[in-house]
Amino acid sequence: MHGVNLDQIGRRDPEHYGGITFRQLEQAIDGFAGELGLDARFFQTNSEGEFVEHLHRVRDVADAIVMNAGAWSHYSRAIGDALAFAGLPCVEVHLSNVMAREEWRRVSVLEDGCIATIMGKGVDGYREALQALKAELEG
Ligand code: DQA
Repeated sequence: MHGVNLDQIGRRDPEHYGGITFRQLEQAIDGFAGELGLDARFFQTNSEGEFVEHLHRVRDVADAIVMNAGAWSHYSRAIGDALAFAGLPCVEVHLSNVMAREEWRRVSVLEDGCIATIMGKGVDGYREALQALKAELEG
């Protein structure tokens, strides 16, 4: 699940997010999932309400969640509540190292609902997230 402004990577802040486009990011994630024998489904929106509504129904279409909620990660208690409601294992991913950026990015209101947070590893962070979720699902 990709949140707000993630659809614009490739065009925004290349020093933080690299030059990869959103389409290339999803293709890379799809490839990582395939290598691990997982089936990836994608969802991106810039609307917080749509993101929450997807979390309300995600249990019907997925066993686990990889989430980069963008800036919402730092303040949206509504998404945190919806993630708890979803009740699926989740790994939070950030392409950039949010701990080395502005103060407000160092807070995650989603981390309590996640089994792990991966940051600063670019696209490879998504591979790590999928590996962690696969291990979690396999017990
Ligand atoms: C981000 C980091 C967030 O602070 C930022 O608002 C984003 C992207 C990342 O992937 O590094 O939109 O989640």
